[in-house]
Amino acid sequence: MWTGRFSQPTADLVLKYGESVSYDWKLYEHDIAGSIAHARAQLRAGMLTEDEFCAIESGLQGILADIREGNFNWSIRLEDVHMNIESELTRRIGAPGAKLHTARSRNDQVATDTRLYCRAQIDATQELLRDMQRALVLKASEYADIRIPGYTHLQRAQPVTIGHHLLAYVEMLGRDAERLADCRRRVNISPLGSGAIAGSTINLDRLGIAEELGFDGVTENSMDAIADRDYIMETLFCLSVIGTHLSRMSEDLVLWSSAEFGFCTLSDAHTTGSSLMPQKKNPDVCELTRGKSGRLYGNLVSVMVAVKGLPLTYNRDLQEDKEPLFDSFETVSLALRVNAEMVAAMRINPDRCAAAVSDPLLLATDLADYLVRRGVPFRKAHELVGKAVAVSVGSCTPLNELTLEQFREISPEYGEDVHSVFNLGRAFELRTNPGAPNPDNTRRRLEYWTQKLS
Ligand code: ARG
Repeated sequence: MWTGRFSQPTADLVLKYGESVSYDWKLYEHDIAGSIAHARAQLRAGMLTEDEFCAIESGLQGILADIREGNFNWSIRLEDVHMNIESELTRRIGAPGAKLHTARSRNDQVATDTRLYCRAQIDATQELLRDMQRALVLKASEYADIRIPGYTHLQRAQPVTIGHHLLAYVEMLGRDAERLADCRRRVNISPLGSGAIAGSTINLDRLGIAEELGFDGVTENSMDAIADRDYIMETLFCLSVIGTHLSRMSEDLVLWSSAEFGFCTLSDAHTTGSSLMPQKKNPDVCELTRGKSGRLYGNLVSVMVAVKGLPLTYNRDLQEDKEPLFDSFETVSLALRVNAEMVAAMRINPDRCAAAVSDPLLLATDLADYLVRRGVPFRKAHELVGKAVAVSVGSCTPLNELTLEQFREISPEYGEDVHSVFNLGRAFELRTNPGAPNPDNTRRRLEYWTQKLS
C-alpha cells in the first residue's frame, strides 16, 4: 500500500496486527459525511472545480449505498475504514478522488469520525434510557402503594413502597441522561482541519465544515485535537455509571424474584431454565446485566491506560480506543432494551410484599420518633426502643404486641397511645418531607416523570 519511500511491502503479520478495518468499518457513515463536508470546503476554497466536487460527492454516496447493502469489499491491505473508502473512491472516479485528502490527515479524520459516532450513539442511548425509565415509571404506577420493607445492609430497615423503590432507579437513570447530555457538549466539537498535528498551509473553512457536520464549534489547538481521547473516556464513564445503576437494579430483582423474598415474578420470556434441575427459573438477564457492568469498567480503564503515557500527539496506540468504545455502546444499548422489556413484563406479588412489610420492627425508628415527640432526646429514645426490641426478641413477642405495662416498665415516657405507632398507613402519612415515601410524594413524582418522559 505504501509507495514512495518504501522498497518492501508491509509484512503480512504487520498487516494483520495493525489493521483496524475489521471493526472501524462501523464508522463508515461518519467517515463519508466528514469527507463530503471536507470536499465542499475544498470547493469553496477553489481547490476543486464544481465537476470535481460533484464526482467526489456522488462517488462517496455510491460507496455509502453499497456499504449499506453489504456490497463493499473491505480489505485489511488498506488498513482502516478511511483508506478503504478513499481508495475505492479513486478507483471509481479517478483523478478527483486523489485530491480529497488535501489539507487533511487520518489523524483529524479519525478524531472527527469517532466524535460523530459518539454523538450519534449518545443520542440513541438517550432514547433507550427514556424507554427504560418509562418501563419503570409504568411499573411504579401500577404498584405505587404496595408496601415493602426497605433494606440497609440487606437487613429490614424501614417501610417503603414498590413505587418509591422503582422510582429510585428512575431518578438514577435521569441523572445518567443529564450526564450524557453534558458529555455530548464536549464530544460535539470538530477537530477537522487539525491535520496530522499542526493544521495545514492550505486553510479550509473549519467553521463551515463544522456547521455542515452539526458540530457546535471547532477545537482550538491542533495538537490537543488529535492527541486527546478524553471525550471517549468521559463517554465510557457515563456508560459505566448506567451499567452500575442497571447492575444494582438487577441485584434487587435477583433477590425479589427468589423464593425467599418472592416480591416479584419475572416472566417466562425473560428467565431461563436449568439443563439439570427441572424446577429452576433463573433470572439470567439480571445476572448478565450485573456481569456486563464489569466489562464496561474494563473498557473505560483500558482506554485511560492506553492514553496515559503517550507523548503528544498521535501515536498508533490510540487505535485501541475504538473496540472498547463500540463494545460499551453495544453492551449498554442491549442492556437497556432487554431490561425495559423485562421490567414491563414483571409482576409484583402483593401478598408476599404484605407479609414481609408486616414486620413491626420496621417501625422501631418510628417508635423512637414517637418518644421524641413526647420530649425524649433522640439518643435516649433510641436506647428505650432498643430495650423494647430486646424484650420483644427475648419473649418471642412481636414488638407491637408488647403490653402497655411492658412498655411502661421500660420507661414511663411510653404513653397509652404507644400502639398507634404500629399503624403502617400512618407511618407513611407522617413522612411528608420531599423525597420521603409518602403516597402523595410518590404520586407527584410519578406525574413529574410521566410528563417529562411523554
Ligand atoms: N486507524 C487509525 C486509528 O484508528 C487511523 C489513524 C491513523 N493515523 C496514523 N498516523 N497512522 O487511529
